[in-house]
Amino acid sequence: TSRRRVIYEGAAKIIYEGPEPGTVIQYFKDDASAFNNSKKAVIAGKGVLNNRISAHLMTRLETIGIPTHFLKSVNMREQLVRQLDMIPLSVVVRNIAAGPVCQRLGVKEGTILPRPVVEFYYKKAESGDALVNEDHIIAFNWLDPYELDELLAMAWRINDYLNGLFTGVGLRLVDFKLEFGRMHGEFGELYLFLADEISPDNCRLWDAQTGEKLDKDRFRHDLGGVIEAYQDVAKRLGLVPQTG
Ligand code: C5P
Repeated sequence: TSRRRVIYEGAAKIIYEGPEPGTVIQYFKDDASAFNNSKKAVIAGKGVLNNRISAHLMTRLETIGIPTHFLKSVNMREQLVRQLDMIPLSVVVRNIAAGPVCQRLGVKEGTILPRPVVEFYYKKAESGDALVNEDHIIAFNWLDPYELDELLAMAWRINDYLNGLFTGVGLRLVDFKLEFGRMHGEFGELYLFLADEISPDNCRLWDAQTGEKLDKDRFRHDLGGVIEAYQDVAKRLGLVPQTG
């Protein structure tokens, strides 16, 4: 659909060359994938909602001093973001046990963790993402020790802020995944930025009253009503007009 150069295409997004050096366009597709790409579908309208939700959350995080890649919204499916050297880690923050971690830790889904837990997954492992620890990160030089400290501090602050934000709209932030990238400064300094997206595709969000799942687990486990759930999250954040 475009003559622009594609820099990278993932399961749910395309990164195009940006209008200026140091920028790229992040395009949100309707494609969904789960279980290491073994389950796939197209969910009409998902990209529009995730674009909107992620733009909103990144903008809010900027206001508390979290550097993010987000620069501006371009249209319904696209945002202008900083071009970064991506760090090959998924950073997962958990407040409540859900998903595969329940089996790993022998806890029931919905168990509130005594304190939030940060996990790192190496994204370039041969078979899916591999759980790694801080020693792997330093040993393989994915981050230097200073950057690792900074990243962890950012992850905790993001969790604090988003917890409050979602609590305020009747949602429980069960867990979420972050990705970070580096920008090289004028004098060779390195800066870490929050990148990728924050949306119901990479968060677990439960209704605070009913426990209803309003995130990608609806797709993963064929619960139905995927787009309605994402719409509900957007609505609660004040991002789409109420209808009826
Ligand atoms: O699969 P797991 O339970 O470990 O995922 C924890 C959180 O991270 C979930 O909110 C999930 O949507 C997100 N995640 C993600 N991308 C991955 C793995 C997990 O967005 N590759």
